Amino acid sequence: MAVILGIESSCDDTAAAVIDGGKLLANIVAGQEIHRAWGGVIPELASRAHQENIVPVVAEALKKSGKSVKDLDAIAFTQGPGLMGSLLVGASFAKGLSHALNKPLIAVNHMQAHILAHFIEDESPRDKPVFPFVCLTVSGGHTQLVLVSDAFTYEVLGETQDDAAGEAFDKTAKILGLPYPGGPLVDKHAQSGDAASFRFPEAQIPGYGYSFSGLKTSVLYFVRDKVAADPKFVEENINDICASVQASIIRHLLSKLKKVIADKNVKCIALAGGVSANSGLRKAVHALGEELNVQVCIPPFAYCTDNAAMIAMAGHFQYEKGVFAPLNVAPLPRFAVST
Ligand code: KG4
Ligand code: ZN
Repeated sequence: MAVILGIESSCDDTAAAVIDGGKLLANIVAGQEIHRAWGGVIPELASRAHQENIVPVVAEALKKSGKSVKDLDAIAFTQGPGLMGSLLVGASFAKGLSHALNKPLIAVNHMQAHILAHFIEDESPRDKPVFPFVCLTVSGGHTQLVLVSDAFTYEVLGETQDDAAGEAFDKTAKILGLPYPGGPLVDKHAQSGDAASFRFPEAQIPGYGYSFSGLKTSVLYFVRDKVAADPKFVEENINDICASVQASIIRHLLSKLKKVIADKNVKCIALAGGVSANSGLRKAVHALGEELNVQVCIPPFAYCTDNAAMIAMAGHFQYEKGVFAPLNVAPLPRFAVST
């Protein structure tokens, strides 16, 4: 069984994980508080924080796993997509370790890894998606419907034309004065709100495409006009506003899921990416699965947002197939899921 160290540094989380034969032994994530003050990720600050975090995070993951560097069979790292400076920190560290230990290097596609997070084994067994399946990947940077034929074959059926679903959450939060990243806070407020309070328009996009920038603009104007009439409007209605915007995002996401299930006779749908942590989306997708009698797979919270367990898991699949990278492999900030 292969022991794989996974390293993730594509955005603002420095993470390391150890997997043994697909079973997770340790999963450590260091977030970066520094971006909160700026209301978004500042790439240069992210790279510097990765530099500071990477050695302690890898050391902690190894310690928790009970393995030493000598036990590692391969080092997997995020090749892209992501911020160039951030990716370089993880790539350079992984290359150094691979060279020093004389163990293979594995370059992982972050978007494929989000999907492969479904296959991470831990102490709580759960159903894994059955190939072929359709995965809705919803993160801060991406919104994609992907047909997954096996761990190495991905076809993007549709994606967002502008903002990602996570951006729609984060921008809504910003308009409402909530700190970055606002997605989890919108979710929290929405749980105590009434989704029928306000109605926001849904974009009409052909095929399996998505669009969220119109929603953001309508939330912006809605809040501006309401606050002009009543300065306490946001304060007094934040739960209802969050519930209504969240419902609008979920309606849009589900409309294309319904379409793909009908068009492609899909038997299994999966969610991946940070926004799949959203409680309303999880509930709605489970309800859709029951209504249409298809398998629904949603990973535990820890594997939805950026993490290194998914990188180690993708590394596991590549190790089994003998897909390794040379030491001069370069990060790919715009790496597509279908390569
Ligand atoms: O996958 P991820 O961790 O990073 C990227 O690769 O982008 O996704 C981060 C995104 C952020 O936009 C964050 O606000 C959103 O996921 N997010 C949520 C929730 N938890 C994280 N959005 C809505 N509800 C949540 N509970
Ligand atoms: Zn991600």
